[in-house]
Amino acid sequence: MDLKEIISKMTLEEKAGMCSGYDFWHTKSVDRLKIPAIMVSDGPHGLRKQDLESDHISFNESIKAVCFPTGSAIGSSFDKELINELGKELAIECQAENVSIILGPAVNIKRSPLCGRNFEYLSEDPYLTSSLATSYIKGVQSKNVGTSLKHFLANNQEHRRMTSSSEVDERTLREIYLAAFEDVVKKAKPWTVMCSYNRINGTYASENKRFLTDILRKEWGFDGFVVSDWGAVNDRVKSLKAGLQLEMPDSKGINDKRIIEAVKSGELDELLLNQTVEKILTIIYKFTDNRIPNTVWNLEEHHNLSRKISSECMVLLKNDGLLPLNKNDNIVFIGEFAKIPRYQGGGSSHINSFKTSGAIENMANYENITYAQGYMTEEDVIIPELVKEAVKAARQSKVAVIFAGLPDSFESEGYDRTHMSIPNCQNHLIEEITKVQPNTVIVLHNGSPIEMPWINKVNSILEVYLGGQAVGEATVDILFGDVNPSGKLAETFPIKLKDNPSYLYYFGEKDVVEYREGIFVGYRYYDKKEMDVLFPFGHGLSYTSFEYSNMKINKSKISDNDEVEIIADITNTGKREGKEIIQLYISSINSNIIRPERELKEFTKIHLLPGEKKTVKFTLNKRAFAYFNTEINDWYVEDGSYNIEIGKSSRDIVLSRKISYTNNQPIKNIYTENSTFGDVLKNPEAKKIIEPLIASTSFFLINSEDYDENAAITPQMHDAMINHMPLRGVFSFGDKSITHSDLKQILEKLNNLS
Ligand code: BGC
Repeated sequence: MDLKEIISKMTLEEKAGMCSGYDFWHTKSVDRLKIPAIMVSDGPHGLRKQDLESDHISFNESIKAVCFPTGSAIGSSFDKELINELGKELAIECQAENVSIILGPAVNIKRSPLCGRNFEYLSEDPYLTSSLATSYIKGVQSKNVGTSLKHFLANNQEHRRMTSSSEVDERTLREIYLAAFEDVVKKAKPWTVMCSYNRINGTYASENKRFLTDILRKEWGFDGFVVSDWGAVNDRVKSLKAGLQLEMPDSKGINDKRIIEAVKSGELDELLLNQTVEKILTIIYKFTDNRIPNTVWNLEEHHNLSRKISSECMVLLKNDGLLPLNKNDNIVFIGEFAKIPRYQGGGSSHINSFKTSGAIENMANYENITYAQGYMTEEDVIIPELVKEAVKAARQSKVAVIFAGLPDSFESEGYDRTHMSIPNCQNHLIEEITKVQPNTVIVLHNGSPIEMPWINKVNSILEVYLGGQAVGEATVDILFGDVNPSGKLAETFPIKLKDNPSYLYYFGEKDVVEYREGIFVGYRYYDKKEMDVLFPFGHGLSYTSFEYSNMKINKSKISDNDEVEIIADITNTGKREGKEIIQLYISSINSNIIRPERELKEFTKIHLLPGEKKTVKFTLNKRAFAYFNTEINDWYVEDGSYNIEIGKSSRDIVLSRKISYTNNQPIKNIYTENSTFGDVLKNPEAKKIIEPLIASTSFFLINSEDYDENAAITPQMHDAMINHMPLRGVFSFGDKSITHSDLKQILEKLNNLS
């Protein structure tokens, strides 16, 4: 297909029209040139294809489909293969339904537990986020369906999301917020990227040339089209120039006219319009030319997949041995969520599930397993009769399993939470049950961390997140040990909201939201401060036990172009088969740069039979050790030692090896008269050159033979003082033997050092 030729035949009106939707979900067709329209649909954890009356926040029903576990759950699977399988199956649904692009994955970083949309996002860590998103996209696109990597960029809150400006410094953008997208774009090549609603450092994401063109396309090699989040266009001409190709939904023709006028007036180069259209047409034809006709999908099969994925994502947060339960014991399931589970969040990702069932429904064959409502999901108030009934049932049972969590109205797209608590009635219920029942399990349905004031009073806690429509079945699979839990937290659970590093600045002032915690997001902050947390990043228990041993690295020294291989043995030392997530962190030793204690740089998930041992292997390169150096505007590794750490969580490092790193391109120091003695003295060659300056500033110590030990300044104190003194200090504090021209010569010598 010669796209340039097609474009040459298009009128200005047709070209401008191609840059926005026909309606909510379709692009425009041009019948006279046989240009087809394509349909896009949300995403990310199921297909939300709206057939009739369209809107973007799920007022109207979409087709019956399968709701898979949401991002919050999927992140905890740490399972690239599983996510890849999910992507493939979603693409099969899309092919069958003639949907060209599924609008996901959503890779915004969980900056605060309050973000209403955290349930759609994967993690507080950019490496985990980008690895899982890469697998998802590779899965979807392997079936010739496109994805829309969203929401680009720094869209970490719902509060004032269409007007607020995320004020983020360059290093933080690079290491945290851009990093969540970078590898995905480079490795998975998404067909489209969706720009977010907000501004970044004052400029709307949709008008931000630096991000949409300079970084996304030029640096990372993106070759698809950028689509606006629905309604994210502020100034259409500015956005087109910045690199936003498709505006969604349609603008009722208003912005098409703006584009036409801008071309006519010379404000917009028609060549840029042609290039924009070419990018859109490339993706349209990529889908239509490679349709996989007659694709069918089966709702029941996908429901079963949803169940499998859901159980792989659940995180056993606490267990004193009460779990797994025995199906023949007298057990009471308490809480409305046991009957009507909460399994997805509100807003544009809302799936019209063809079926769902609560955990209790799946135990219908067991008369010994009973149910008590305990609370009303959408109520905060305590209903005494419900509590009384639940307490009575708990008393009569061997074990009480309380299903708790956040109601729909607490977590949704479009607004944020204001606190981290579950409804009062649920906290009260848990307290009351634990007074009468020493065997209590808590099952949690929530898309983001919650506070747990009762944590020390319960025996076990199972975090099921918003686990998709099969969450009831999957919960039962885990509770009774048919599946061994294997998820680990993709985010830290702080003890209380105030512990979170963004707490002081999160909602910002009007439209200014400063990301003052910088790179210290999630565990990067809690670990550096050695703060107590409820559950650390990467934490998750199993019904079996794993032993880590024999860590080896194939090099003890590396530099920029090298790779280092790391291996370690993992053994299942328990009696059940199970899966383990092995995490690799890098920690810099004695860095001169402000860096987190450790950062996740690799992970894998393996299955082990009882007694089985497997060797895991990781490969690291420069980037794993690097930080973003804003002086050279590039990733850079300081010379020095690093610990390569293998652990069960960010707080449970089991194995560690030291490696030394020498970079190939040391940054050349530029010395000035304001360079400090300390900085200059770091270079041993420089030391010789500045000896006259040192002598000059220490004349009263060195020259005085009758040095008095009781003098106010000792040699050690002198050294410490000049450490932070600029070289020009020699004029004020030296013996006057150094002239300006001497210092000039010394600086010349210093700057000639290689
Ligand atoms: C959401 C996007 C979604 C789009 C289309 C927007 O409100 O932010 O994530 O894909 O609507 O429904």
